[in-house]
Amino acid sequence: MKVIHVSAECYPAAKVGGLADVVGALPKYQTNLNYEAAVVMPYYENKFAKSSKYITDFKTTVQLGENSFKATILKVKNSEKDLGYPLYQVKIDDLLDRKEVYGYGDDTERFIAFQKVFLDWVLQFAVKPQVIHCHDHHTGLIPFMLTQCTAYIPIRSIPTIFTIHNAQYQGEFSFEKIHYLPEYDLEQSGMLEWDYAINPMAAAIKACWRFTTVSPNYMTELPYAATGLDWLFDTERDKSVGILNGIDTEVWNPSSDKMIEKNYTVKTVETGKLANKKILCDKFNLDINKPLVAFIGRLVYQKGADIMAGIFDKALDANDINGLVLGSGDSHAEYLLNELKEKYPGRYNTYIGYSEELSHLIYAGADFLIMPSRFEPCGLNQLYALRYGTIPVVRTTGGLKDTVKDIGEKGGFGIRHDHVTVDNVALAITRANKLYNDTEEFKRIRKEIMNIDNSWENSANEYIQLYNQLAQ
Ligand code: ADP
Ligand code: GLC
Repeated sequence: MKVIHVSAECYPAAKVGGLADVVGALPKYQTNLNYEAAVVMPYYENKFAKSSKYITDFKTTVQLGENSFKATILKVKNSEKDLGYPLYQVKIDDLLDRKEVYGYGDDTERFIAFQKVFLDWVLQFAVKPQVIHCHDHHTGLIPFMLTQCTAYIPIRSIPTIFTIHNAQYQGEFSFEKIHYLPEYDLEQSGMLEWDYAINPMAAAIKACWRFTTVSPNYMTELPYAATGLDWLFDTERDKSVGILNGIDTEVWNPSSDKMIEKNYTVKTVETGKLANKKILCDKFNLDINKPLVAFIGRLVYQKGADIMAGIFDKALDANDINGLVLGSGDSHAEYLLNELKEKYPGRYNTYIGYSEELSHLIYAGADFLIMPSRFEPCGLNQLYALRYGTIPVVRTTGGLKDTVKDIGEKGGFGIRHDHVTVDNVALAITRANKLYNDTEEFKRIRKEIMNIDNSWENSANEYIQLYNQLAQ
């Protein structure tokens, strides 16, 4: 393999959000471009693991302070064929091998151990990879350990790329846990430090060869984004580049998607979407004759979860529309969204939880998808919506700004708003409702957006160009 992607998530093995979609698709497209790519991720005790067959590739023990854990690197059998690239999973007994990806009190220990085992594995390779590509803070200590820890001197010349999918999560922990890291020259501790703590995201930015963001616009926002690392992003900007995410057009394809009720193409979009909308409306007791405005996502502050119920309340009050929310997260937001069902029976519904199938059906059956994000490093939902002929209504931020053009502009095809307030988003939904009632224009746009090319092909190549620059 030329590039090894290291990540906490990878679809279909484990997914919490868009990180999994990216790491699950990018290596496939790189391999298609004749650049050998592999993925290394943790082994979780989940559905995917239960239904997969594994081949043991490497065995070791990993030391964390006083404790040592048995670790194995397992290759998913037939992954080259089934996924398009080899997938390896790091199993660490009694530490990493849990049901969920995140959310445990010892996540710091779990991901430090993961990164150490990964590097121990690479250490014994006969042929070194051309580059190690780390994704988000769970892999952020790799560039530091690789360049600073004595154990990894033989492989320290391997270039590292660090991709920021979300700068809000940095994985910081106390210096009291410093002894979990392999030995290094303590004078270099400053490379790990931010705000008196060990900060894996900051350490990655300092120690990696290049860092990237998942959209060009998010990179321009980072020095002002109030993540706490603004100054660092600014001073290190010479080694940064923004590369826009793509989508896996095989997984997300309305003409072959097995998770939706009726497949369709640009030509059959009217009947196709209607059939999917019908199933949704039957399932959620909604009116098929009204425009369906949906939201899919993690119910967190980033996505505007705290005002989501307020947005739907105001928009439903002002417009003859239907609303549907799929998501989970903040319990108060979940509660308010559930409450709203009683106020708008037959017009609004909520599915609290995670359902890959339902998400596909919503992309296919909805008329509009809202994303009132406070910030959005890239956002994939709007790209899936476009591919399924669902018009995105998005806040002008991050990757949403790079990928959605407002209908008020020449060549525009979506609806944008500037603020994350109930009024501003509800107003954008009113514009969506107006567009829906302008039937011919609505149908035209719906067809047009299905043809927009947001596939990984271009961006997968941009990453390869970047790797090649480092290898010279
Ligand atoms: P983020 O990574 O910040 O959550 P993205 O827009 O990049 O946002 O990606 C979100 C991904 O997670 C998409 O594939 C979306 O369909 C999926 N998703 C989010 N919440 C849910 C849910 N409750 N059920 C199913 N899929 C979900
Ligand atoms: C993060 C971001 C999201 C991005 C995804 C994949 O979770 O919040 O905007 O699309 O990563 O890169």
